[in-house]
Parts: sequence; C-alpha cells; structure tokens
Amino acid sequence: MKLNIALLAGDGIGPEVVAQAVKVCDAVANKFNHEINWTPALTGAAAIDAVGEPYPDETHEICVQADAVLFGAIGHPKYDNDPTAKVRPEQGLLKMRKKLGLFANVRPTFTFHSLIDNSPLKRERIEGTDLVFLRELTGGIYFGEKGRLEDGDVAYDNCLYSKEEVTRLAKKGFELAMTRSKKLCCVDKANVLETSRLWRETVQAMEKDYPEVEVSYEFVDAVAMRLVQWPSSYDVLITENLFGDILTDEASVISGSMGLMPSASVGEKTSLYEPIHGSYPQAAGKDIANPLATVLSAAMMFEDAFGLQEEAKAIKDVVNRSLAEGVVTEDIAGKDKAYKTSEVGDWLAENI
Ligand code: IPM
Ligand code: MN
Repeated sequence: MKLNIALLAGDGIGPEVVAQAVKVCDAVANKFNHEINWTPALTGAAAIDAVGEPYPDETHEICVQADAVLFGAIGHPKYDNDPTAKVRPEQGLLKMRKKLGLFANVRPTFTFHSLIDNSPLKRERIEGTDLVFLRELTGGIYFGEKGRLEDGDVAYDNCLYSKEEVTRLAKKGFELAMTRSKKLCCVDKANVLETSRLWRETVQAMEKDYPEVEVSYEFVDAVAMRLVQWPSSYDVLITENLFGDILTDEASVISGSMGLMPSASVGEKTSLYEPIHGSYPQAAGKDIANPLATVLSAAMMFEDAFGLQEEAKAIKDVVNRSLAEGVVTEDIAGKDKAYKTSEVGDWLAENI
C-alpha cells in the first residue's frame, strides 16, 4: 500500500521524537511491503521563524493532500513569556484543528504492565485502567469571541456550543463505546453552565439510538477527583474542549510518564496523530525525550487511518518489549540506565 504522510515535526523535542517514529514506520513499511511517502511541512515557532506564520497555507495544503498527518509538538518559551506577542505558535495548532475540521481528539490512557510502579498512584488503584477521552477540539471557549473592555482592565472569553457540534462528537463517543465495554460518561458542569446543559440534553436525546450503551452524566470536578481515585471505573468519556484539555493531562500521568500517551485528532479531512505531551523545550536538542508517545501515535495512525491492524500491533508489541527490557529514556529509567532518544528509536526499528 502507498501511504502519503505529512510530517509536521514542530518545535522543541518535536523533531527528535518524530524522527524516531519515522524510523519505526519505515521499518514497518519495509517488513509489510508498504511504501511511505513522507512530506515534511513547517508548523509552530519553527514556521513563524521561517515564514512569519505558525500554520502556513502551504502546510495546510500538504495536510489536506496527505492520507494522514504525523505531528510532533509546538510551543516555544520566547512566546510564553511575552503576553504581547502578536503571533504565537499555539495559534498555528488551533488554526490547523479548525481548518482540518479535527473536531474529535481521541486520548487514551492505559497502563503498561512493566511500568505499573512508575505511576504516582498506587498499583491497586490503577491496575486495569484502560479509558479513552473524546475531547471536542474545535469549539467551546477556545474558539469563542474573546477580548478586552474598560481600557483593557476587563477580559472575556465566550464559550459557545451548537447542538450539531455536540452531536457529532457524542456520536463518535457512542460508536467507540459500542466497540468497547458499552459504557459512556458525559463530563460536564450542567449544574452551572448553559453550554453543559445543551451537551447533556443533546446526549440524552441520542441514548435511544444506542440502547446497549449505558450512559452516565458526571460533573467535571467530580471526574477530576474520581480519575485519580478510581480510574479503572471509566471507559469512554466525552467532554468539551477545555475540560478535555485539563482532564487528559491529569489522566496521562496515570501510566507513569506523560511521554507515553498517544492521541489522534479526527474529523472532516485528514486525521492527525500526535503525542499528548508538549514541546518540552528544556529537553530540546539533548536526545533525552521519550519518543514512545509519538511511536504509539504512529501505531494509532496505522490502525485508524490505514486500517492496518497487524502493522499497528507490531509497533505496540515492540514498544512493550522496549519497556520490559528497559530500552527507555531517562524519564522512565532514571539518568544512569537511560538510553538516548535516538537509541530507543534505532532499537525499535531494528526489532520490528
Ligand atoms: C493540547 C495543548 C494545546 C491545547 C495548547 C498547546 C494550545 O495543551 O493539545 O492539549 O490547549 O489544546
Ligand atoms: Mn493540553
């Protein structure tokens, strides 16, 4: 099969982790007789530096033409510490999500047998955790009107949702629940927010179309608590953009390292696959970042974008072996026994 993949390495550790995923994908292609055509494109601070814009039209065209997008991370400290900056790398990410119509962000959290004691939570709490957040990604407070009043001393960010936006995300949630344990949790703040009441009402009206799915409705504050108390009680969770942003960071540490969790963003056009960690600028260029989340994102890409299950399994298996055999970076191994980012990538590619 011919696979056309747009490669958006981005900023910070993005280029390093993406390079390892490319090695692994090329090894998979070699083994299973596929031909991958990688098309690199600029995004984030790297794109601002080169062309003054964090998601250039040319990059968008490359993404639209591709069968899938593999993405690293974006963000640069020089913009974080400058609230007056007119262009920011993150704007590129939001623009990309909007223009590609990536309305559903799929963020799984699972545990690895060999890493169970790396988690900040006790073994008995997290054993068996295997949940998936579906975070709405192109609406809500991220994209509502924002601004300043009263000479800049008052600020606002509007949160807007349409029934249509909720329906398309919830539909993905119900469908995913049907392929898993048929449990769906709708996370909202319906005791306070009107948008949450719209979410709840919309999801309730859809229940009759999926009679086998058991739906629960929980407030976001309670979910934040129960996620660390009893994560294995959840399966598929659907939620709006900002709640999903916060809860998925919280959920990502359950596995033991944020450097492990992959994600997919799907919607109207090409789907995008990326690690859930950020650009981690402190580690950039040091060859120490954990490439496994990006490698596992590539596994999601083989599975979902190309329907290639065996290839995806080969990647997940080799990642499990690297964890079991200790071929891992310093976030997991500690400094003394750590492998470099590039060494982990080489080992994975050789062992595919
Ligand atoms: C994420 C990130 C982004 C978000 C930032 C970088 C804009 O935190 O992908 O979760 O808030 O969505
Ligand atoms: Mn986030």
